[in-house]
Amino acid sequence: MRVGILGAGQLGQMLALAGYPLGQRFVFLDTSGSPSADIGTTQIDLDNQHLAEFLAQVDVVSFEFEHLPVDRVRDIEKHKPVYPSSRALEVCQNRGLEKALFTRLQIPTPEYQLVDSLETLQQAVSQLITKHAKPVVVKTVTEGYDGKGQAVLRTADAAEVAAVWQRIGGRELIVEAFIEFVREVSIIAVRGQNGEVRFYPMAENHHVDGILRYSLAPLPDLDAAIQQQAESYIQALLKELDYVGVLTLELFQQADGRLLANEMAPRVHNSGHWTQNGAVTSQFENHLRAVAGLPLGSTAARFPTCMINIIGRCGDTRQLLQEDSVHLHLYGKEERAGRKLGHLNLVADDLPSLLDKVQRAVALLPDAPEPHFSFAVYSKADRRELLMECTNTHSLQSGSALG
Ligand SMILES: Nc1ncnc2c1ncn2[C@@H]1O[C@H](COP(=O)(O)OP(=O)(O)O)[C@@H](O)[C@H]1O
Ligand SMILES: [Mg+2]
Repeated sequence: MRVGILGAGQLGQMLALAGYPLGQRFVFLDTSGSPSADIGTTQIDLDNQHLAEFLAQVDVVSFEFEHLPVDRVRDIEKHKPVYPSSRALEVCQNRGLEKALFTRLQIPTPEYQLVDSLETLQQAVSQLITKHAKPVVVKTVTEGYDGKGQAVLRTADAAEVAAVWQRIGGRELIVEAFIEFVREVSIIAVRGQNGEVRFYPMAENHHVDGILRYSLAPLPDLDAAIQQQAESYIQALLKELDYVGVLTLELFQQADGRLLANEMAPRVHNSGHWTQNGAVTSQFENHLRAVAGLPLGSTAARFPTCMINIIGRCGDTRQLLQEDSVHLHLYGKEERAGRKLGHLNLVADDLPSLLDKVQRAVALLPDAPEPHFSFAVYSKADRRELLMECTNTHSLQSGSALG
C-alpha cells in the first residue's frame, strides 16, 4: 500500500516510521518549502501544480496537518480515498464548527460567542466577563496552533479589546469563558473503516505558553467513570463524522471531576506520542491500520509513561540516553527557540520511579520548565504510597474497544 500524506513534518515522519513494518510506503506532499519528514518520497508543490503527480504515486491519502484548503482535499477525494474525510477536516479546522458540533452532540464545552468585528468582540467580552466573573480567551477561528492566535482579556477595557482586535482580529474570532481547570487531559481514539473503535487511556497534559511540554499516561488517578465519559464524547464525534483514523479530543477537567471539551484534532497528536513506547500499539500504527482498512491493534498501556517535548535546544542527548528506559525521538530539525525538535518517552514500572526519572531528564534538558502534575500535591511522606496506589488502579487496562 502506498500512502500519500498531505504535509511533511515530524508527524508524517513518525507515521512513516510506523508504517514501514506494515509494508506501507510513503509519499509526502509539501507546500511549505521546508519539509522535514526526510523519509519516503517528498513531492514539493509550492505552486499547486503537482497534485496529479502526487496522486499517481499513492493508493490512499491522509494528512498530518489540519490547516489545509478543504476544497483541495475535496478534489483529492474525487480521485483517491482520503481518511479522515474532508468533512471531518472542515469541522476540526474551524473552532466555530467544532463548538457547534460539540453542542449538538451534547458534549459540554466552555461558553463561547463568535464575533467578526470590533463592536461584536467588545460586546461578547463584556457579556462573558460579567456573567462568569472570569477572564475570557479570544482565539482566531481558523489556523491557530500551539497557543498562537490567542489572547486572554481580564477586563472589558475598550483599549485592551481594541489592541486584541488589532493583533489577531480583522477576521472571525471566538471568545470563550476562561476555565479554571484542575488539569488538561486528552483522549485519543481510532476508528477503522468497518466502524470498529478503540480508545487509548487518557493522558494528563501540561502546556506552557500554549505549547505542550509534558504528557503523562495513563492518567495516574484515572477514574473509570471519567474515562468512560470521555470515551462517550469522542465516540459520538467519531460516529457523527463517519470518521476513519485517529481523532484527538482535548478536554479541561474541573475540580468536581467534570470534563469540558476544548478542541479536537483530526490526526495523530502530540499528547499521544507516549503510545510509541508505552502502549501495545502506537497511535501512528493504529492510524495507518485504519487508513489501510486493516484490523486495529490493542490500545492498552504497557507502562506508566511520560512524554517530554524537546523544544528549542536538545542538550546532551548522550547523557539523556544513559538513563534506563528512555526513548529518544529526534525529528532531525535545526535548533531554534520555541521549535519542537523531538521528544522523550520515559517508561517505568510504577509512578514514583517514573516521576524520579522525569526529574532527572528535566535536569538535562536546557529549556524544560519545572514539571507539575495535578496529583503530586501530597506531602513527601505520603507521596510514594499514594502514587503507588495510583499506579495499581485499573488504569493500565483501561484502553478499551467498541465494536
Ligand atoms: N477557555 C479556556 N480557558 C482556559 N485555558 C484555555 C482556554 N482555551 C485555551 N486555553 C489554554 O490555551 C491552550 C491552547 O489553546 P487551544 O484552544 O488548545 O489552541 P491550540 O490550537 O493552540 O492548541 C490550551 O491547551 C489551554 O492551556
Ligand atoms: Mg490545543
